[in-house]
Amino acid sequence: MDIIWHSKSKQFHLYNDKISYIMGVTPLGDLGSIYFGSLIHDKEDMSYVVNRFMLSNVVVDPDTESYSMELNRQEYPCFGTTDFGTQAYEVEISNGSRVSSFVYRDHKIFKGKSALKGLPATYADEDEAMTLEVCLDDEVARMSLTLSYTIFDKYPVIARHAVFTNNGPSEAKLTKALSACIDLPDQDYEWMQFSGAWARERIPEIKKLTSGSVSIESKRGISSANQNPFVIVKRPGTDDFIGEAIGMSFVYSGNFVAQAECDTFGRLRLLMGINPDRFCWPLKQGESFETPEVVIAHTDEGLNNLSQTYHDLYNNNLIRGKWKNTPRPILINNWEATFMDFDEKSILKIAEKARDAGVELFVLDDGWFGARNDDTAGLGDWVENPDKLPQGMAGLSRKVNALGMKFGFWIEPEMVNPDSNLYRRHPEWALATPGRKSSLGRHQLVLDFSREEVVDYIYGMLKKVIENAEISYIKWDMNRSLTEVYNANLPAIEQGTIYHRYIMGVYSLYEKLRKDFPEILFESCSSGGNRYDAGMLYYAPQAWCSDNTDAIDRIRIQYGTSFGYPISSIGAHVSAVPNQQTGRSVSISTRADVAYFGTFGYELDLNKISNEEFEEVKKQISFMKEHRELIQFGTFYRLRSPFEKDEASWIVVSKDKKKAIVGFYSMKSKVNQIPGFVKLAGLKEDYKYVIRDEEYYGDELMNMGLTLGKYYINSFIARQEYVSFVEVLEAK
Ligand code: GLA
Repeated sequence: MDIIWHSKSKQFHLYNDKISYIMGVTPLGDLGSIYFGSLIHDKEDMSYVVNRFMLSNVVVDPDTESYSMELNRQEYPCFGTTDFGTQAYEVEISNGSRVSSFVYRDHKIFKGKSALKGLPATYADEDEAMTLEVCLDDEVARMSLTLSYTIFDKYPVIARHAVFTNNGPSEAKLTKALSACIDLPDQDYEWMQFSGAWARERIPEIKKLTSGSVSIESKRGISSANQNPFVIVKRPGTDDFIGEAIGMSFVYSGNFVAQAECDTFGRLRLLMGINPDRFCWPLKQGESFETPEVVIAHTDEGLNNLSQTYHDLYNNNLIRGKWKNTPRPILINNWEATFMDFDEKSILKIAEKARDAGVELFVLDDGWFGARNDDTAGLGDWVENPDKLPQGMAGLSRKVNALGMKFGFWIEPEMVNPDSNLYRRHPEWALATPGRKSSLGRHQLVLDFSREEVVDYIYGMLKKVIENAEISYIKWDMNRSLTEVYNANLPAIEQGTIYHRYIMGVYSLYEKLRKDFPEILFESCSSGGNRYDAGMLYYAPQAWCSDNTDAIDRIRIQYGTSFGYPISSIGAHVSAVPNQQTGRSVSISTRADVAYFGTFGYELDLNKISNEEFEEVKKQISFMKEHRELIQFGTFYRLRSPFEKDEASWIVVSKDKKKAIVGFYSMKSKVNQIPGFVKLAGLKEDYKYVIRDEEYYGDELMNMGLTLGKYYINSFIARQEYVSFVEVLEAK
């Protein structure tokens, strides 16, 4: 890994063993892109890529008389001169002009990576990464711009963000400030996005790029289940095992946009950042705005390889603290077992049975506080309900701890029910626009986390509950989109800052609680997977993947999630049947076979299952305890897509390739068919792997495949639906 500065040609080359990222100062003095892809040799000067010729209808710079931005690739394109593509940023200065021209001033290259202020971001030691900061000035606007690029030693990854500073006496307005742009020299790519809605999150969709733009976005104040802030562009033909692809992952949890734009001269522009819609950030003299980070990864070995890069990078250089690379506790959550209808006695009954099965952590979900007996009341009143918890959280947590289990609980700190003491005391703390109705979601309003006093108040209440009890885990939920966004304390010119200030408020509360209670494992949640993004992983190492706990639907949801996020982060539980969302009944072994590929736990009352099932649960828990480190932190490969056939499969392989665990799932009954094989991946060709006393060579399993016949035969006899198996492979 190194970053080379060629002072004569004014070009930078960032490279490691796998990738090269080359750019340079253009004839206009701004930054132009030269190359991003697999590693290539360094050269002193690559200015030959610059196009300097006149084409009809093209406007050129008056000094050079031959250089047009439109015919060249930019690093961070501006608005208003010779580039007519989508701009990465826009500044309005005091005279109303929005034309910009930031010109190279100097740069800094250093080992490691600096932190972003109040924002989540990847981090790195001095031997893990190098950073380049390029400083540019716009003399007319009296502003400076710093573009930051970090290259990681071990990963084919560049992390980018930008900082704007107003140096002049007049106030300027930043109306768009994306985090990164990549201009590529051809357009032969497909776009892959991860879309859905509540209970059907992160479903992959692929479309061929053609002239014009494709974009996804969120304007909900959360990253959302509708569109995930992670996209891939790939060559046609690239699949999980072969081919080139580029990923862009936004380390941010609020409004975003991701866009691919094919222009008429063959240039493909990729953009990602805070959604400019509803964004406007005024900058007074001396003030700066720092964008969040985008993590850009490259592969020429297929999408599994791209995903593995994100998994390893996020496990090692994004997730922090005690739970970084630590196998996650097997938990039981009472939500689907009791909903809000519980008391200490009924909770302890569930906890005792779970302890007998080997569960390590009990999670008390919604309904323990205020007047919270259904979802119409209580949010905002973070004080225990004495009817349900006579000795408070302190009493219950001690009793659960005495059983030999850890204890954790559910919160939804960003919300308030109009029927709550908090709202009666502080109605002005909810987001609302003067003169307009406030829309309700799940009978609740959103607290204005852009206001420090609101965040501080909630922090104080939560801190008290946590301090008084024995708490190891917190599930932080967020159950509605933001509407009627307005902050009565801010002047009109600052109303465009609130969505961003809101998420900064969320991050600041997370950071305060993490600092006070560094041992606590946080799991983020937003009606399931409405805020499953890299930003959240910086604070909460795992995320409740979806409220849809149906094993068959979960195969698709977890499969889609695996493209951008590590298995260690995927909250996955075995729940009761018939499933509360789909009504489907699936055997307890198939439900566990799916939930193993995540954090694993239970979301049901183990008192209510049969003795045989309970014995099976005990075995499932000891299986997961033995193998969770490999499953959560090994090298994960998708083998068969649930979106192509009625079967799905994946495997995780240990870093030394001596051990692997394969999961296989049939999503429909099979009658009168030959089952065939599933080809495994990631093994060592000449190792001999043992699966249930039978030996197979690695190349045999990868090229011929693992026969499915013996797994299907029993189901044919029993006429069983939804066959699945999870097998452990161990090299002799
Ligand atoms: C959301 C979460 C669920 C559960 C409920 C409680 O829907 O996603 O897991 O915690 O809230 O109200």
